[in-house]
Amino acid sequence: MNYLILINRNNTLDKNYIPKYLTDTCSKYKKGIKVVDKVNDMFLLMKLEALKYGYDIDIMSGYRDYDYQVKLYNKLIKDKGFNYAYRIIAPPGASEHQTGLAIDICVYRYDKCYVEHELNDFDEISWIIKNAHRFGFILRYPKGKEDITGYSYEPWHFRYVGNMASYLYFNNLTLEEYCK
Ligand code: DAL
Ligand code: ZN
Repeated sequence: MNYLILINRNNTLDKNYIPKYLTDTCSKYKKGIKVVDKVNDMFLLMKLEALKYGYDIDIMSGYRDYDYQVKLYNKLIKDKGFNYAYRIIAPPGASEHQTGLAIDICVYRYDKCYVEHELNDFDEISWIIKNAHRFGFILRYPKGKEDITGYSYEPWHFRYVGNMASYLYFNNLTLEEYCK
Protein backbone atom coordinates (compact mmCIF):
# COMPACT_ATOMS: atom_id res chain seq x y z
CA MET A 1 0.00 0.00 0.00
CA ASN A 2 1.17 3.53 -0.78
CA TYR A 3 1.22 5.15 2.64
CA LEU A 4 1.96 8.54 1.07
CA ILE A 5 -1.23 8.67 -0.98
CA LEU A 6 -2.59 12.23 -1.17
CA ILE A 7 -6.33 12.51 -0.70
CA ASN A 8 -8.06 15.88 -0.76
CA ARG A 9 -10.70 17.71 -2.76
CA ASN A 10 -8.55 17.52 -5.89
CA ASN A 11 -7.45 13.92 -5.42
CA THR A 12 -10.42 11.78 -4.59
CA LEU A 13 -11.17 8.11 -4.07
CA ASP A 14 -13.68 6.03 -5.95
CA LYS A 15 -16.98 5.54 -4.16
CA ASN A 16 -16.27 1.80 -4.04
CA TYR A 17 -12.70 2.04 -2.76
CA ILE A 18 -12.15 -0.05 0.36
CA PRO A 19 -8.60 -0.49 1.70
CA LYS A 20 -7.17 -3.97 2.16
CA TYR A 21 -5.99 -5.22 5.52
CA LEU A 22 -8.44 -3.36 7.72
CA THR A 23 -8.29 -4.44 11.33
CA ASP A 24 -10.30 -3.67 14.45
CA THR A 25 -8.63 -1.10 16.70
CA CYS A 26 -10.38 -2.39 19.86
CA SER A 27 -10.78 1.27 20.80
CA LYS A 28 -12.56 1.80 24.08
CA TYR A 29 -14.28 4.86 22.58
CA LYS A 30 -16.58 2.80 20.37
CA LYS A 31 -16.81 -0.75 19.09
CA GLY A 32 -15.90 -1.58 15.51
CA ILE A 33 -13.48 1.25 14.64
CA LYS A 34 -11.13 -0.09 11.98
CA VAL A 35 -7.89 1.09 10.38
CA VAL A 36 -5.24 -0.47 8.13
CA ASP A 37 -3.34 -3.07 10.18
CA LYS A 38 0.03 -1.27 10.02
CA VAL A 39 -1.65 1.91 11.28
CA ASN A 40 -3.08 -0.01 14.20
CA ASP A 41 0.31 -1.54 15.06
CA MET A 42 2.02 1.84 15.02
CA PHE A 43 -0.77 3.57 16.94
CA LEU A 44 -0.52 0.93 19.66
CA LEU A 45 3.22 1.56 19.99
CA MET A 46 2.54 5.29 20.28
CA LYS A 47 -0.23 4.66 22.80
CA LEU A 48 2.12 2.58 24.96
CA GLU A 49 4.80 5.26 24.83
CA ALA A 50 2.21 7.92 25.73
CA LEU A 51 1.13 5.87 28.72
CA LYS A 52 4.64 6.21 30.17
CA TYR A 53 3.83 9.90 30.63
CA GLY A 54 0.38 9.14 32.01
CA TYR A 55 -1.32 10.08 28.74
CA ASP A 56 -4.30 7.88 27.92
CA ILE A 57 -5.11 8.19 24.23
CA ASP A 58 -7.34 6.24 21.90
CA ILE A 59 -8.92 6.35 18.44
CA MET A 60 -12.37 7.92 18.09
CA SER A 61 -12.58 7.64 14.30
CA GLY A 62 -10.62 5.59 11.79
CA TYR A 63 -11.71 4.08 8.50
CA ARG A 64 -14.96 5.60 7.21
CA ASP A 65 -16.58 4.26 4.10
CA TYR A 66 -17.97 6.53 1.41
CA ASP A 67 -21.58 6.23 2.58
CA TYR A 68 -20.70 7.06 6.17
CA GLN A 69 -18.82 10.16 5.01
CA VAL A 70 -21.96 11.17 3.05
CA LYS A 71 -23.94 11.01 6.30
CA LEU A 72 -21.39 13.01 8.34
CA TYR A 73 -21.02 15.57 5.57
CA ASN A 74 -24.75 16.13 5.11
CA LYS A 75 -25.38 16.27 8.85
CA LEU A 76 -22.71 18.91 9.48
CA ILE A 77 -23.98 21.06 6.61
CA LYS A 78 -27.52 20.75 7.94
CA ASP A 79 -26.48 21.56 11.54
CA LYS A 80 -23.87 24.27 10.96
CA GLY A 81 -24.24 25.47 7.39
CA PHE A 82 -22.08 24.98 4.32
CA ASN A 83 -19.48 27.68 5.04
CA TYR A 84 -18.61 26.19 8.43
CA ALA A 85 -18.71 22.59 7.22
CA TYR A 86 -16.50 23.35 4.23
CA ARG A 87 -13.47 23.94 6.51
CA ILE A 88 -14.11 20.96 8.79
CA ILE A 89 -15.37 17.97 6.84
CA ALA A 90 -14.25 16.48 3.57
CA PRO A 91 -16.82 15.79 0.87
CA PRO A 92 -17.48 12.08 0.24
CA GLY A 93 -14.57 10.60 -1.73
CA ALA A 94 -12.25 13.38 -0.55
CA SER A 95 -11.74 12.15 3.01
CA GLU A 96 -8.53 10.35 3.82
CA HIS A 97 -10.52 8.48 6.46
CA GLN A 98 -11.66 6.36 3.48
CA THR A 99 -8.05 5.14 3.07
CA GLY A 100 -7.93 3.62 6.56
CA LEU A 101 -4.71 5.61 7.14
CA ALA A 102 -6.22 8.50 9.11
CA ILE A 103 -7.08 8.52 12.80
CA ASP A 104 -8.89 10.97 15.03
CA ILE A 105 -7.42 10.78 18.50
CA CYS A 106 -9.35 11.18 21.74
CA VAL A 107 -7.91 11.63 25.22
CA TYR A 108 -9.09 10.07 28.47
CA ARG A 109 -8.60 11.85 31.77
CA TYR A 110 -9.95 9.72 34.57
CA ASP A 111 -13.18 8.40 33.06
CA LYS A 112 -13.96 11.35 30.87
CA CYS A 113 -13.19 11.33 27.19
CA TYR A 114 -12.24 14.53 25.35
CA VAL A 115 -12.52 14.99 21.60
CA GLU A 116 -11.88 17.44 18.80
CA HIS A 117 -11.64 21.11 19.87
CA GLU A 118 -11.76 20.17 23.55
CA LEU A 119 -8.20 18.94 22.96
CA ASN A 120 -6.76 22.28 21.78
CA ASP A 121 -4.57 22.94 24.83
CA PHE A 122 -4.04 19.40 26.07
CA ASP A 123 -0.51 18.31 27.01
CA GLU A 124 -1.36 14.91 25.54
CA ILE A 125 -1.91 16.48 22.13
CA SER A 126 1.26 18.61 22.35
CA TRP A 127 3.17 15.42 23.08
CA ILE A 128 1.57 13.59 20.13
CA ILE A 129 2.22 16.49 17.76
CA LYS A 130 5.95 16.36 18.67
CA ASN A 131 6.31 12.59 18.74
CA ALA A 132 3.85 11.13 16.21
CA HIS A 133 6.45 11.21 13.42
CA ARG A 134 8.54 8.62 15.31
CA PHE A 135 5.63 6.24 14.72
CA GLY A 136 4.97 7.23 11.11
CA PHE A 137 2.18 9.76 11.72
CA ILE A 138 1.87 13.44 10.86
CA LEU A 139 -0.52 16.12 12.08
CA ARG A 140 -2.43 16.40 8.83
CA TYR A 141 -4.17 19.78 9.19
CA PRO A 142 -1.75 22.05 11.08
CA LYS A 143 -2.13 25.65 12.19
CA GLY A 144 -0.93 28.14 9.59
CA LYS A 145 -1.38 25.78 6.66
CA GLU A 146 -5.14 26.08 6.32
CA ASP A 147 -4.93 27.58 2.85
CA ILE A 148 -2.77 24.71 1.67
CA THR A 149 -4.68 21.81 3.21
CA GLY A 150 -8.09 23.42 2.73
CA TYR A 151 -9.14 22.66 6.31
CA SER A 152 -9.11 24.32 9.72
CA TYR A 153 -6.55 23.26 12.32
CA GLU A 154 -7.47 19.78 13.54
CA PRO A 155 -5.23 18.87 16.51
CA TRP A 156 -6.90 15.44 16.68
CA HIS A 157 -6.48 14.24 13.09
CA PHE A 158 -3.29 12.31 12.35
CA ARG A 159 -2.34 10.53 9.18
CA TYR A 160 -0.08 7.52 8.83
CA VAL A 161 2.50 8.15 6.10
CA GLY A 162 5.19 5.65 7.17
CA ASN A 163 8.91 6.32 6.85
CA MET A 164 8.61 9.85 5.47
CA ALA A 165 6.86 11.15 8.58
CA SER A 166 10.04 12.48 10.23
CA TYR A 167 11.12 14.20 7.03
CA LEU A 168 7.74 15.91 6.76
CA TYR A 169 7.75 16.84 10.45
CA PHE A 170 11.24 18.36 10.55
CA ASN A 171 10.69 20.23 7.28
CA ASN A 172 7.25 21.46 8.35
CA LEU A 173 5.63 20.08 5.20
CA THR A 174 2.04 19.10 4.61
CA LEU A 175 1.28 16.20 2.27
CA GLU A 176 0.07 18.73 -0.30
CA GLU A 177 3.47 20.45 -0.27
CA TYR A 178 5.41 17.19 -0.34
CA CYS A 179 3.38 15.69 -3.20
CA LYS A 180 3.49 18.84 -5.34
N1 DAL B 1 -12.15 16.19 8.90
C1 DAL B 1 -11.45 15.70 7.76
C2 DAL B 1 -11.03 16.81 6.85
C3 DAL B 1 -12.28 14.68 7.00
O1 DAL B 1 -13.51 14.80 7.03
O2 DAL B 1 -11.70 13.82 6.39
ZN1 ZN C 1 -10.18 12.99 11.00
